[in-house]
Amino acid sequence: MTPEKTQETRITERVLQSFAETPEPRIRELMTALIRHLHAFVSEVEPSEAEWLAAIEFLTATGQMCDGHVRQEFILLSDVLGVSMLVDAINHRQVEAATDTTVFGPFYIAGMPQRQYGENMAQTEGEPALIHGRVLTPDGYPLAHAVLDVWQAAANGMYSGQDGAQPMDNLRGRYRTDAQGRYAIRTTIPVSYPIPTDGPVGRLLDATRRHPWRPAHVHFLIEAEGHRRLVTHLFLDEDLYLASDAVFGVKESLKVGFQACSADHPLASEFGFEQPFRVGHYDFVLEAA
Ligand code: BEZ
Ligand code: FE
Repeated sequence: MTPEKTQETRITERVLQSFAETPEPRIRELMTALIRHLHAFVSEVEPSEAEWLAAIEFLTATGQMCDGHVRQEFILLSDVLGVSMLVDAINHRQVEAATDTTVFGPFYIAGMPQRQYGENMAQTEGEPALIHGRVLTPDGYPLAHAVLDVWQAAANGMYSGQDGAQPMDNLRGRYRTDAQGRYAIRTTIPVSYPIPTDGPVGRLLDATRRHPWRPAHVHFLIEAEGHRRLVTHLFLDEDLYLASDAVFGVKESLKVGFQACSADHPLASEFGFEQPFRVGHYDFVLEAA
């Protein structure tokens, strides 16, 4: 080892030593691993002082972009670096039969209206669609009275809350399963949309020639008594961005085909469609708590 390298290694050792007396074992473990990996990264890339300052400025701008309400640029950063999906995978090593989880995303709004079986949650234009199926236990029993909190972007690619022109409850709602565990949601076909690019995360994507698009999806947060809550999406199986989701959220098991139906299909009269519409069918499986 060169004398310079020896000096650099000594810095890392001294910093590690400074955390050795941390009383809480988990904090000690976290800080020790953080210092080891952070110092290894800096040693590997050998930043110039200007580069280090640019990194500090990037993180500063990321914090300044957050408004503690609608915009959370650090979550977006975690999403585009794949860390959100890694944390999700670590925390949901669930039974084989259970529905896969995916990112929560920043656009959920609590307290949206309770909706009836088959009620239309869309107040904006789009291709009419029905999403229906059941909520089940891993061994196939129906879960009655499960709550499905649902949200999706409008045909302009924006969520209510992001877009002042949409009523707050547009394309949002809480549905309940019936006694047979069935749910039905009338909506419009989801569209692909770009994640926000007007901040540091947008600059990062641009500099690395990555696109900001998410494939078309509908978000679900599903809760049933005695079961683990499920945070997931259903993806439109024909979307062009399925293989390159900006936040790495796609899983094979969450892709759904939406069949085209004419206005004389039996489901049209049941759910009040007067024009051709599309139907996606999906059974969710919740793990026991
Ligand atoms: C979303 O699907 O709503 C979303 C997820 C991660 C980042 C941005 C948006
Ligand atoms: Fe989304």
